[in-house]
Amino acid sequence: MRTQVAIIGSGPSGLLLGQLLSNAGIDNIILDRVDRDYILGRIRAGVLEVGAVQMLGKAGAGERMHEEGLIHDGFDLSFSGRRHRIHLKDLTGTSVMVYGQTELTRDLMDHREATGGLTIYNAEAVTPHDFDGVRPYVTYKKDGVTHRVDCDFIAGCDGYHGVCRASVQDKGIQSFEKVYPFGWLGILADVPPVHHELIYANHARGFALCSQRSHTRSRYYVQVPLTDKVEQWSDEAFWDELRRRVPDDVAQALVTGPSIEKSIAPLRSFVAEPLRFGALFLVGDAGHIVPPTGAKGLNLAASDVHYLFEGLREHYGEESTAGIDAYSGRALKRIWKAERFSWSMTMLLHRFPADGEFGQKVQEAELDYLSSSHAAQTAMAENYVGLPY
Ligand code: APR
Ligand code: PHB
Repeated sequence: MRTQVAIIGSGPSGLLLGQLLSNAGIDNIILDRVDRDYILGRIRAGVLEVGAVQMLGKAGAGERMHEEGLIHDGFDLSFSGRRHRIHLKDLTGTSVMVYGQTELTRDLMDHREATGGLTIYNAEAVTPHDFDGVRPYVTYKKDGVTHRVDCDFIAGCDGYHGVCRASVQDKGIQSFEKVYPFGWLGILADVPPVHHELIYANHARGFALCSQRSHTRSRYYVQVPLTDKVEQWSDEAFWDELRRRVPDDVAQALVTGPSIEKSIAPLRSFVAEPLRFGALFLVGDAGHIVPPTGAKGLNLAASDVHYLFEGLREHYGEESTAGIDAYSGRALKRIWKAERFSWSMTMLLHRFPADGEFGQKVQEAELDYLSSSHAAQTAMAENYVGLPY
């Protein structure tokens, strides 16, 4: 088989890149080691910056998002028993779109199928080869048979645990990492959200987040020690803990119900440099991870795809390598700013046991400053809605 761009990974990064390339007449094949239902079973954050919204529209898969997505003009920060609204729209002129990553992925998959794009699911032992040379190719196994895909470029869109970053370990890749000493216990439930916008709560017992997927589906989180097991947490225990960490009026308004998903996710900041190795590019979670506090994961995947797509389009259309040569540097500049923001939101809102009550007091002072300073709120809002591409 031969294609122009072999894309490894059918998550949001791979699907978005694949669709933009197909729309521009650039041939591509997506390979994933699991199947469509498995990919759609993953639950992830769902706050889209305007750039990500535009990218989905450009891919031609934004119709349902525009019908069903919820525009949020702000969010609440809660601390010391009170709430303070960060008015994104007033502060920046921009809003965010709340639309689940699962739905966005489904829309991209459906659009790819409808437009005849090829995705090979359940591809085993996917391996990139010769990306340092002039004839890169990818091999994979399916039903016991090894296949070969010859290509011009390989897009490593295969997430944090993928094969692409692993295959450049001996090629001078550098990693920068911070692991946080806690996780997020999350619940998805078919109950109406407690508030029309998100509430990020700093509390002496730990962080909590009230989020949502729609007017009838809510997503809530509480900070837990990494030693906790999800089986230890009954739904009742979760709801009780959440009520303790939010202001009284929110606790009283909370509608609870059985969870349809419950899991614990660790928090990590991670960046790999560079993001290009010859004909191989790392894109999205394959190259970087953010803690979920600023909801930047999917948004960074979208900006990476933007830079890479523009580079590839230039390469094929204008026969210039300037765009692909600039990919790693351009993407990393934006990635590091989002890393900084996600790290600072995480540091501001979580309980760090090692920092004691001093740490808690400093956080409360910073939150108090934020609630009284237009400049500080503008800085937070500007980062939350997303820095320019
Ligand atoms: N071979 C083939 N496919 C693989 C391999 C492999 N060795 N390893 C991983 N994959 C596939 C996974 O099965 C998955 O479908 O790559 C895909 C990677 O998708 P994601 O992990 O969703 O990564 P990405 O598309 O970059 O999406 C970024 O995901 O984690 C969130 O917050 C993040 O929202 C952001 C988004
Ligand atoms: C979510 O809805 O899952 C979500 C929202 C905002 C975040 C993180 C997660 O910052």
